[in-house]
Amino acid sequence: MVAVSERIQRRLTIQTIEIANETKAIRCLDWDRDRFDIEFGLQNGTTYNSFLIEGEQTALVDTSHEKFRQLYLDTLAGLIDPSKLDYLIVSHTEPDHSGLVKDILTLAPEVTVVGSKVAIQFLENWVHQPFKQKIVKGGDRLDLGNGHVLEFLIAPNLHWPDTIFTYDAKTQILYTCDAFGMHYCDDHTFDEDLELIEEDFKYYYDCLMGPNARSVLSAMKRMSQLPGLITIATGHGPLLQHHLTELTGRYRQWSEEQAKAETTTAVFYLSDYGYSDRLSQAIAHGIIKTGVAVEMMDLRSADLQEVRELVSIASGIVIGTPPTTAEITPTVQTVIGTILGATNPKQSFGVFESGAQDSESAYLLINKFRDLGLHPAFPPLLVKETPTDTTYHLCEEVGTELGHWLSRDRSIKQIKALDSDLEKALGRLSSGLYVLTTSQGNISTAMFASWVAQASFKPLGISVAVAKDRAIESLLHVGDRFVLNVLEEGNYQKLMKHFLKRFPPGADRFADIKTYPATNGSPILADALAYMECEVKSRMDCGDHWTIYSTISVGRVSKPDALTAVHHRKVGNHY
Ligand SMILES: Cc1cc2nc3c(=O)[nH]c(=O)nc-3n(C[C@H](O)[C@H](O)[C@H](O)COP(=O)(O)O)c2cc1C
Repeated sequence: MVAVSERIQRRLTIQTIEIANETKAIRCLDWDRDRFDIEFGLQNGTTYNSFLIEGEQTALVDTSHEKFRQLYLDTLAGLIDPSKLDYLIVSHTEPDHSGLVKDILTLAPEVTVVGSKVAIQFLENWVHQPFKQKIVKGGDRLDLGNGHVLEFLIAPNLHWPDTIFTYDAKTQILYTCDAFGMHYCDDHTFDEDLELIEEDFKYYYDCLMGPNARSVLSAMKRMSQLPGLITIATGHGPLLQHHLTELTGRYRQWSEEQAKAETTTAVFYLSDYGYSDRLSQAIAHGIIKTGVAVEMMDLRSADLQEVRELVSIASGIVIGTPPTTAEITPTVQTVIGTILGATNPKQSFGVFESGAQDSESAYLLINKFRDLGLHPAFPPLLVKETPTDTTYHLCEEVGTELGHWLSRDRSIKQIKALDSDLEKALGRLSSGLYVLTTSQGNISTAMFASWVAQASFKPLGISVAVAKDRAIESLLHVGDRFVLNVLEEGNYQKLMKHFLKRFPPGADRFADIKTYPATNGSPILADALAYMECEVKSRMDCGDHWTIYSTISVGRVSKPDALTAVHHRKVGNHY
């Protein structure tokens, strides 16, 4: 490893580093990336990684986000004469990696753009100028000379429909762009510290790759044919080298678990329309939380046979439509027609519209689904403005609602199945009654809880078991803050009744409830006996629950002589 250079411009910095023979990484470090997309929920910033391979000919693998324009182009010019670039490999066309393609074409008019057929078509529509191009399929090769023979692997849906991976036989590096990445920003080029990155790695998988688990397994099958793999050079976060086997093993395991799920939902979206793919990811994330698998498909590039197959195995179907009927192209129309033709009345459906204007396209589709006898899983989700954290949270809740509906028989069966002596013994564990509340950005939510216990003296800490499909779960990641409200004996019924209501997605859970803000911003229930301000320190995966360990700082008791409400049960197979 040689020459690490850093140029600071507010909280955007660039790191260039030689990662292998004649191969440099240009990592654009975005330290304060906003939490505006669901996949950025952990707030650890992100990086956009681009790579320069210099054989006898030169190739740039991906560019960067346009917010790095000047920094990136100056850095590139410091490494080579950009006008002499031979190839620009576009792993996929999402703007955070291809945002500077037009700039590269201006600096290097003779460069050949390499990508999948779908990617090149998208770029043609986007740049509106002729450029040299090379469409590649799986197994195609490109010899840059000096041993750098590049081989392309198709990896559709990871996480855009047009994705390709690039393998360099000389350095045994596989360039995967979004796949195997994570939104994690720090100076480490590689994955030295597993503990530091594993939560972000999993969260990113859950948001972007989990909904494409079958595609992950297909891509990994292709990867297993490669003669050797030393490094996975991802488009976001540290490159995988030190824990390559462990981390790819986790991808395989998670994807196999997903692929085995009994129930599947098909989520159709429009990859290059507004925020359709982001909204669909948030819905998918909410569905997956309930143990129902998701398969996502792009309406613009879907293969009709695959559409039929997916719809025939799915129990639920979600479609994102464009904002006006005028924007439904003949291709999209054919795919939607194929979806409708393959449905059956036992299925449930949901429709969302990104950039909603007249809502006509959404309602037309809803009527067609209804005419075919499908059950509407949630009211149409019409997103008129640029999505915010509230929108993504709403999408997640809507997805969870659909997942609960589809898995309702399974949940009832599970509860009935357990009634042994052991369950009765477990039921003798008793606890207090509490309400967890949190307020983050524009989102406020709450959960009634009893599985709460003190967990440490130094520091003062508590644990809470939170079911994986709870709405509040996505707001209880490391660093998140909440309030634990302790309910009072003889004075908890009203709060219990309120917080155990079934809240539809997006509902205000604090309507008619008196609260005041804690110093950490979360609501304190005015009728609680005591409260504590908490900060999440770690999460342990405990089957169907997360055990959330949090330290507590500020706390207060409102009535010194009152007692905590206690919860006694008979069996341990419910709360
Ligand atoms: C007595 C009682 C105790 C509960 N304790 C917990 C708990 O500790 N953890 C949990 O995840 N859910 C618990 N629940 C379930 C949730 O309070 C409730 O079903 C949930 O708020 C609704 O899900 P949602 O918030 O995702 O819509 C409990 C329910 C009852 C009736």
